[in-house]
Amino acid sequence: MSPMPLSDAGAFNALLMSRVDGCDGLRLARPALVPEVHLHLAEDAIVLQARLEAQTGRRLAAPFWANAWVGGQAVARYVLDHPHLVAGRRVLDVASGSGIVSIAAAMAGAATVTANDIDQYALAAVIANARANSVEIEVHARDLLDGDGGDAEVVLAGDVFYSPELAGPMLAFLERVAARGARVLVGDPGRDYVPRHRLEVVAGYPVSLAGAAEDALVKWVQVFRPILGIGPAAHWATAR
Ligand SMILES: C[S@@+](CC[C@H](N)C(=O)[O-])C[C@H]1O[C@@H](n2cnc3c(N)ncnc32)[C@H](O)[C@@H]1O
Repeated sequence: MSPMPLSDAGAFNALLMSRVDGCDGLRLARPALVPEVHLHLAEDAIVLQARLEAQTGRRLAAPFWANAWVGGQAVARYVLDHPHLVAGRRVLDVASGSGIVSIAAAMAGAATVTANDIDQYALAAVIANARANSVEIEVHARDLLDGDGGDAEVVLAGDVFYSPELAGPMLAFLERVAARGARVLVGDPGRDYVPRHRLEVVAGYPVSLAGAAEDALVKWVQVFRPILGIGPAAHWATAR
């Protein structure tokens, strides 16, 4: 993993130290669907982003790592309830955000867990969250979506179909992973760019307590796996 710029690392650590300060900080919380897991989550993600940008002096990506997205909560729940799916296996959590899915996989007995995200703050959060749950997780910063998941035996993805820019490459990646025989599970509550016709449902969960503010109206979240053998999905998101 490439090192975080010093100003970012300083800003993140300051956040962790001041997590009980107020709405621009983090608190250690348990996501509603996965109360076994503790995560450093934002009191208010928008205020948190403003604070980080003020500290680092530059624009930053939205702190998705400071929310437990319901899609990730669903995959984490499913893995914890079906530990044999990951036990003893090499697991890759792509677009890990906070690392909620990685932590669940580690708790369920995965041999190794790699959390991958292109946001350095997310990977710093994964490290802090892994420590809070006493599990070991490797972090990986490079964009992996042009590959097939390498030697991962299980690839997990929580809430990755929220934008057209990500949905197309993500679907192609997950289908390549599944085509080479690895297990793929993806959690989604019905985001705008979820390719429903290329996924089959594995499980569903009612959502009674929201995670991110954006999820306040979400009532149902599902875990899916890619349907194999239905041809290429080129230009999925942009073709809608
Ligand atoms: C909505 S969040 C979901 C995070 C987590 N899986 C969860 O369910 O809480 C989406 C994440 O995807 C990450 N992301 C976006 N593009 C990516 C890419 N090409 N490779 C890896 N991660 C990416 C973002 O940085 C963000 O952390």
